[in-house]
Amino acid sequence: VKRLRIGLLGCGTVGGGFVALVDRERDRLRSRYSLDLTIDRILVRDAGKERRGIDPALLTTCATEVIDRDCDVIVEVVGGVHSAGTYVRRAIRQGRHVVTANKALLAATGSELFGAAAARGVTIGFEASVCGGVPVIGVLRRGLAGDSIESITGILNGTSNFILSRLHEGLGFAEALACAQELGFAEADPALDVSGQDAAQKLRILAGLAFDAPIRRTTVVGIDGITPGIIQNARSRGCVVRSVAEATRVAGGIELRVGPKFLAATEPLARIVDETNAIVIRGRAVGEIVLSGRGAGSMPTAAAVLADVLDISCLT
Ligand SMILES: NC(=O)c1ccc[n+]([C@@H]2O[C@H](COP(=O)([O-])OP(=O)(O)OC[C@H]3O[C@@H](n4cnc5c(N)ncnc54)[C@H](OP(=O)(O)O)[C@@H]3O)[C@@H](O)[C@H]2O)c1
Repeated sequence: VKRLRIGLLGCGTVGGGFVALVDRERDRLRSRYSLDLTIDRILVRDAGKERRGIDPALLTTCATEVIDRDCDVIVEVVGGVHSAGTYVRRAIRQGRHVVTANKALLAATGSELFGAAAARGVTIGFEASVCGGVPVIGVLRRGLAGDSIESITGILNGTSNFILSRLHEGLGFAEALACAQELGFAEADPALDVSGQDAAQKLRILAGLAFDAPIRRTTVVGIDGITPGIIQNARSRGCVVRSVAEATRVAGGIELRVGPKFLAATEPLARIVDETNAIVIRGRAVGEIVLSGRGAGSMPTAAAVLADVLDISCLT
C-alpha cells in the first residue's frame, strides 16, 4: 500500500467535505488503488472553531506549517486570490503538486502558476474549479484530447440558473434572489454570479483547455435585467430564458459570450433547472457531448478535488 500525504489549506465547505470524503472512501481507495491517504495538517483562519469530524490536533493557522512539511500534494481550498496565490506559489517552489478548487485564482494568475509548476516539474489539478462535481476538465483534457473542439456551450453558474428557474415560476427578481440566498445558493454579495462574470471566468478556463487559439472577444451580460415581461415573452414563443456561456471559433481565434438567451424548450440546456450546471461540448469527430450535474456544494466539489489527488498519486 502506497501512502500519500496531503497538506490541506482551508477547511470550510469544500475542505470539510474533502476530509469527510477521504474518510468515507478510505477502504475503497486502499483495496482498489492500494493507496492510503493521510491528511497531515490543515490550515484554517480560526483554530478554535468547532468543526465536526475534524481532529483539532491537525489544525494550524500557520500556512508554512502545512506547505513546508514533506507532503506529496497540497490541496488549496482557501479561496480568494491574494493569500491563496501566495500559498500555491510557495507550494510549487517547494516542489509540491497542487490541487485547487479556486477559479478566481486561476482566472487572475493561471498562466503564471501553470508556468511555474511546469518549470518545477509539478502539476496543478483544478477539476473542482469549474462546475464543481461535473468532471468537465477531465473530459476536455483527456477524454476529448484526440478531437478538435468546435464549440462549448453551457450553464456554468448555478445561482443564475436557480434565479431564472424561479422567475419562470412567477417570482420577481428580488424575491428569486432572496430565495437563492436563503437556500445557500447565492452569496451575500451575488454580484459576481448575477453579472455573468463568474460564468465568464469558468468559460475562459474551459476555452483555454479546449482551443489552441487566442480569445478575440468577450461579451458578458448579467441576468439582473430580466423582468417578468421578458420571461412572458419567451414563454409565448415556446422558449425559456437561460444564462448561456458560449465559446465559439471566429476568424483568428475564439469568441466568448455570456448572457441571457431564449432557448427553445427542446434544447438540452433549456431543460436544466435550479442550481444544476450543464455543458455541451461539440467535437469535430465525436459530435455533441452533454455533461450535467451539481456544479457546487461540499461533497460534489470535494469529489472533484479527490479525483485530482488520485491522478497525482500516479505521479509520486
Ligand atoms: N463552496 C462550493 O460549493 C465551491 C464549489 C466550487 C469551488 N469552490 C471554491 O473552493 C474554494 C473554497 O470555497 P469554500 O466554499 O470551501 O470556502 P469557505 O467555506 O469560506 O472555506 C474557506 C476555508 O479557508 C480558510 N481560510 C480562508 N482564508 C484564509 C486565510 N487567509 N488563511 C488561512 N485560512 C483561511 C477558512 O478558515 P476558517 O474555517 O477558520 O474560517 C475556511 O476553513 C474557493 O476557491 C471556492 O471558489 C467552492
